[in-house]
Order: sequence, then structure tokens, then C-alpha cells
Amino acid sequence: MRTRRRRVAACAVLAAALVAGLTSCGQEARGGSRYQPDKGKGGTVGIAMPTKSSERWIADGKNMAEQFRKAGYKADLQYGDDKVENQVAQLENMITKGHRLLVVAAIDGSALTHVLTRAAEAHIPVISYDRLILGTENVDYYASFDNERVGELQGQYILDRLGLKKPDADADERHTIELFAGSPDDNNTKYFWNGAMKKLKPYFKTGQLVVRSKQTKMNQATTLRWDGGTAQKRMDDLLSKNYGSTDVDAVLSPYDGISIGIISALKSAGYGTKRHPLPVVTGQDAELASVKSIVAGEQTQTVFKDTRKLAKQAVQMSDAVLTGKKPEVNNTTDYDNGKKIVPAYLLKPVSVDKKNTQLLVDEGYFTKEQLR
Ligand code: GAL
Repeated sequence: MRTRRRRVAACAVLAAALVAGLTSCGQEARGGSRYQPDKGKGGTVGIAMPTKSSERWIADGKNMAEQFRKAGYKADLQYGDDKVENQVAQLENMITKGHRLLVVAAIDGSALTHVLTRAAEAHIPVISYDRLILGTENVDYYASFDNERVGELQGQYILDRLGLKKPDADADERHTIELFAGSPDDNNTKYFWNGAMKKLKPYFKTGQLVVRSKQTKMNQATTLRWDGGTAQKRMDDLLSKNYGSTDVDAVLSPYDGISIGIISALKSAGYGTKRHPLPVVTGQDAELASVKSIVAGEQTQTVFKDTRKLAKQAVQMSDAVLTGKKPEVNNTTDYDNGKKIVPAYLLKPVSVDKKNTQLLVDEGYFTKEQLR
């Protein structure tokens, strides 16, 4: 009996030692040694961007590659053509080539778990860029904008343009609105949506804002891969089924590419003339085509997110990780990816409409000539 007890105790000690050993290895893996900070600057950094179909990602990639070069690194910039399998293959290739760090703007935030396990095994740190990577421990930092604020700016803009000051169940005014959301596989989508709903929902309750299609749930309003053509089709459909004799007064759009699709559908349905003006249409990214559309009086608003600043932030974070310093973060509570709260640095978005497009020129984002 005594021997048996002793054996059990010995096993427990051994098990505890093993667990402690594993934990300390784990901690070490997440701490300095995983990042190989002793190497300092130099080597290649992999940048995996989602698509070239939107100007912003082209600019994001280019800005980061340039800034990495300035900081003393080589950059391997790849675009996934909005296909998850391409992005996974590109990341696998970067890992095989022994790149020192990966900056990833995910196409599908939940589809990278397996490949990022490989990155972790190869001691390659990962920065999640703009879109949070979900469901994995193996993401170290997140650089983005305050995504909920983006939605709030869009929602508030609609309220202001329609002259809605406070929710009032007795008010006579009724405005019609339709709602669009981003790609269902992009974690940002729900932040944009929630931010906008925070502003708009009280007015659905009072009846001051009416969604004639009744499609008020996010999953009814999403737009796979943020595709403008898909949004255009949905808008065609919404208009033909719900707006025979009534006009739509506002459309919540989370992104400029979607806004362009929505505006095309509206124009095909006869909107966009003096007698039949376009509704309020929001957007995001201050893409050139949309800013021009704003100047021309078609799209009403966009949200400016200075991608140069985001690129700079991501490069600074990466450089800090690679040289064994602590990256600057300003949010350690909100970005839970299902496995961990990812320490984040969030930049501020700014609402832009016809009145302040000059800001984009002043900031050097576009030239005056480009906006003509
Ligand atoms: C989101 C991003 C937006 C917009 C959209 C479509 O993840 O935060 O700014 O670019 O993708 O590309």
C-alpha cells in the first residue's frame, strides 16, 4: 500500500514537473526567444494582403513595403486575390523561406489557424493588420482603426443628414433606409455594423427610420468579400421589391466599393437627377473613385482611414518585436479573437463629406488635381 502511494506521489511530482516544464517552454515561446530578437534588424518580412481589387490594399502593401525597407528589412509583398487558399499558400511559402515576421490582412479571419501554427513552430511572429485573425493563439499584435467608431460615424452621419436629433415616438417624420454590411468572414464587419446600429436602432424603435425590406439583421445585409457587384444586385432587388412608389432616403454602406455598387443600382432605378435625387449613401476608406463621387454630389460620405499611418504603426510594431522591444499598444481589452485578447493599436477614423474633402488634400492623401 505504502509503495503504491509513494509511486502515485512520484508520478504526481513528475507530472507537475512536466507541466511546469511545458509551461515554461510555452512562456518562453511566447516571450523573447520565439522572436529571435538577438538577430536585430535585417532579413525579410512577409506581407500578406487580401486583394488588389481595392486601392486601399494596394496602398497599404506599398506603404508597408517601403517603410520596412527604410527600417532596414526586405519585404516580400503578396496579394491573395480574395481567395483564402491563395493566402494560405502564400503564407506557407513565406514560412518555408524563413521570413522573420508576417504581417497579415486576412481574407477569412478564421481560416489561418493551421498555417499560423506552422509559423509559431518556426518562431515567426505574426501581426494582424486591419482585420483581426481569429481562433488562434498565434497572433501577437493587432494594428487597426477603431472599427466600432467607423460604424458610429456612418450611422451618425445618416442621422445628421436626415435631421434626426433625438428618438421620438411621437414624431411625424418617417425616413426610409436600407442597410448593408461587409463580408461575413471579416471580423471588422460586426464592429462596423454594431457601431452603426448603436446610432440607428433607437430610431427604428420609434419608427422615425423605416427599413421597408425588413432586412435589419446583419446576416441579411452582409456582402461576401465586400464585392460591389454583389451589393449592386442586392440593391436592385431591394428597390424593385420595396420601393415602387416610395423613395429610399438613406443607405448605410460600410465600404466605398459597396457604395459604388449601390449607387449604380440607384441610378438604374432612376435616382440621381434633380427631380429624383440620390439618397444619403455612406462609405469607408476614402478611395479615389468615391471621393470623386462625393465631390460630384453622388456618394454622400466616406470614412477616411489614413492607411499610411496604419502601415507605419504596423512597421513600428514589427520592428519592436524583431528587436526585442515592446510594441506600443493602446487597447488591451476589446479584441478577443476567441483564443486570446490580442493587444492592439487603434488609430482614429475621420468622417469625410463634400464639406471637408480638402482635408484629404491637406493631409497629402490626394492631390488637388486627383479630386477634380
Ligand atoms: C475591411 C476594412 C475596410 C475595407 C474593407 C474592404 O476589413 O477594414 O476598411 O477596406 O475591408 O476592403
